[in-house]
Formats: sequence, structure tokens, C-alpha cells
Amino acid sequence: MTFTTTFTRLALSAGLALGTVGAAQAAEEDVKIGFIVKKPEQAWFINEQEAATQAGEELGFSVVRLGGEDGQEVLSAIDNLNSQGAQGFVICPPDVRLGPAIMNRANQYGMKVVTVDDRFVGSDGEPMEEVPHLGMSGYKIGQQVGEAIAAEMEARGWDPQEVAALRITNYELPTAKERTDGATDALLEWGFPEDNIFDAPQQNTDTSSAFSAASPVISQRGEFEHWIIYALNEESVLGGVRATEQYGLGAEDVIGVGINGSGAAFAEFSRSNPTGFHGTVAVSSTQHGRQTAEDLYRWITEGEEPPANTETSGTLMTRDNWQEVRAELGL
Ligand code: GLA
Repeated sequence: MTFTTTFTRLALSAGLALGTVGAAQAAEEDVKIGFIVKKPEQAWFINEQEAATQAGEELGFSVVRLGGEDGQEVLSAIDNLNSQGAQGFVICPPDVRLGPAIMNRANQYGMKVVTVDDRFVGSDGEPMEEVPHLGMSGYKIGQQVGEAIAAEMEARGWDPQEVAALRITNYELPTAKERTDGATDALLEWGFPEDNIFDAPQQNTDTSSAFSAASPVISQRGEFEHWIIYALNEESVLGGVRATEQYGLGAEDVIGVGINGSGAAFAEFSRSNPTGFHGTVAVSSTQHGRQTAEDLYRWITEGEEPPANTETSGTLMTRDNWQEVRAELGL
């Protein structure tokens, strides 16, 4: 590190930590945090980690980006962070039920923890309120998905009795259940027949697991020519759309609406021929990454514990407006 950057960093942190002696001490050491995500190759998580790094460059702390795709990987990521002298980490866990084990390891090292996106669940099956969390307002965003699908069915003049819904579910993950429940309720309220909703439980939250879950369900319901598709995220909706394509259903037969608004959706909207992927409710992954990293930094340097639970909102993005929404949300 050059003299100038050291100087700027110290000046910056000293300014921010003004007030308490303990805080000033912490700020003078180099602050280092980890940012661990369950799917490091997914655009959503790449964006979060980049935004956290950027926040660190601006505020004067460093961010170690790590992947943790299962419990074992997460625990070794924490060991690794400890040996690098990190004071805490932000994490989107690969399985929310790992919460107690992850906290156990973090507490051994005296590290502070903030969860992002997927909130830890304790051994009692309830959210671990003691760990500060930032994530989507899942149910509301799910309702936006349901409303967007209903509006598009109306625009196409579809008779809901003749439409099948592919609901790709992941009930182990509470935020996923909230999202698909929100979408289902909005659709039922609009008048979609409950009997036409078919579940495809996915094992994971990515495109390939959604594709595998969706294929047999579509194959079993060959009598339906029109499908709507929803899931916890756009990667999974894309898996469903790809599965419908396998059975010869085209863009005019399918309405899929996802959640996230990241690279996966942009790639789909950029294709010259539209697909059944109609839209996605975009949430700012940039804000998720930035806010959680900054909250953790302030907690470490100023002793200010982040809010217990922060919920973020979303905006519908379709082929028609995706570039504007993208710019608006800083994605
Ligand atoms: C879950 C999903 C991600 C993303 C985040 C956003 O972790 O798996 O794709 O939607 O939630 O909160």
C-alpha cells in the first residue's frame, strides 16, 4: 500500500470513527471482512460481492470474496478468514439450517456476522433474530410476480381455465416459500384456478435444478398449451422456460416471470427473438452487497449493531424497460 492510500484510509476511518476510543483503535487497524456466498458463479452474487468490494474501497476496508456451496466449504472459509485476520463476514448461506453451526464457529473467533438474502434458521425452526439480516420482502415481491403474470395473461386474452402454472418450489428456504406463496396468492385472487397449479420442487436454487424439476411436470400435462412459470428467482424460471422449449412450446405459449434482475435476465432480454421469459422483478443486488458490507464495517469500527431485519423492494422489468430499470437500480 502506498503512503497516500494509507494516509487517506487512516484519515477516512478516523473521521468515521470519531467519538469512541475503542472505535478509533479498531479503525486504525486494517479492517477486513469476508463476503461468503452460496453460488459464487451466479450474476446476483457476483454483483453483491463486487458492490461490497467497492464500498470497502470507498470507506477504507478490504473484502475477501469467498464461495461456500456447502457446510464444509463455509466452515473452512471462516477458518481461512480468521487466519487472514478478518473481524467478521457477510454471508448468504448454502442452507439456512446451517445457521447455528456457522454462528458457533464465528463466535469461537469473535467474528461479527451479518446475513444477506437467506436468513439463518435456528434449531427451533425460527429465524435467528440475533443475527442482523438484510433480504427481499419475499411475499410482496412474489405478489408483484403474480400480478405481472396475470396482467400478461389478460393482455394475451388467455382463458385461465386452459392455462397451467408451473410453480417451481424450494420450501426448505423460507424466502423462497414467501416469494412463491406471494405469487400464488396474487394469481388466485385474480381468478386463476388452484387445480391448474403444478409443483416442481427443485433441490437447489439454480437453472439446472429447476430444469430437472420442471421437465417431468410439463411432460405429464401435455394437455395444456399455455403455461405460466414462477419460482424464487429468474435463474429457476429460466430453467422452467428451457424445459417448455424442449416440449415445443414457444414464446407465445409461455409467460415466465422471475425475481432478481441480474445478468441472467439481461442476457435473455438481449436475445433478438423473445422467449417465454416475459419479465423479472428486479431488486438491487448492488444495494444488498453494499449495505451489508457497510453495516458490518460500522459494527466493527463503531460498535453500532445493524438493524435486526431490513427488507428491500423490487421493480418489474420486461423486455421493454429493462435498460431503464437497470440504470435506475444501479445494476
Ligand atoms: C436467494 C436466491 C438468489 C437471490 C437472493 C436474493 O438467495 O437464491 O437467487 O434471489 O435470494 O435475496
